[in-house]
Amino acid sequence: MAVRPILIAPDPRLKAVSATVQKVDAEIRKLAEDMADSMYAADGIGLAAVQIGVPKRVIVMDLDQKDDKKNWRAFINPKILWASEEMAIFEEGCLSVPEIWDDVERPARIKAEYLDLNGKRVEIEADGMLATCLQHEMDHLEGVLFIDHFSRLKRSMAIKKLTKAKKLAS
Ligand code: NI
Repeated sequence: MAVRPILIAPDPRLKAVSATVQKVDAEIRKLAEDMADSMYAADGIGLAAVQIGVPKRVIVMDLDQKDDKKNWRAFINPKILWASEEMAIFEEGCLSVPEIWDDVERPARIKAEYLDLNGKRVEIEADGMLATCLQHEMDHLEGVLFIDHFSRLKRSMAIKKLTKAKKLAS
């Protein structure tokens, strides 16, 4: 188990399209554990492997951290099978996009499939926060950040803010 540094936008590595996992083996399970550690250390609820610089289709998530119990789940090679026409708006944030939160509109409900850490295929229906988070994390696998859903003006303002913060930090 290890906490790994999370890439901060704008970083070209966040734009990588992640590769399909060929086999859910010990290496992938170790990667998922490191991702969970990194997510908890950064106070996040979801993380894609590409955010720690590993462009593989692996996501970890824990939407219920109220009781300090760690109940994270891994989603490997996730795929959306169906998305509702009904849309929902949630305020989103991202560990790779610090200090920026804003509304993003996405399908309200989805059906998805993925592999769990045992390599077993699982199908789920999701709505609410889970649907939003899954779509947000799956965007990462395509190199897409939530700010990419903003209008062009709002997006360029966000990138300016991130670039400035990065300069100050370095
Ligand atoms: Ni994110």
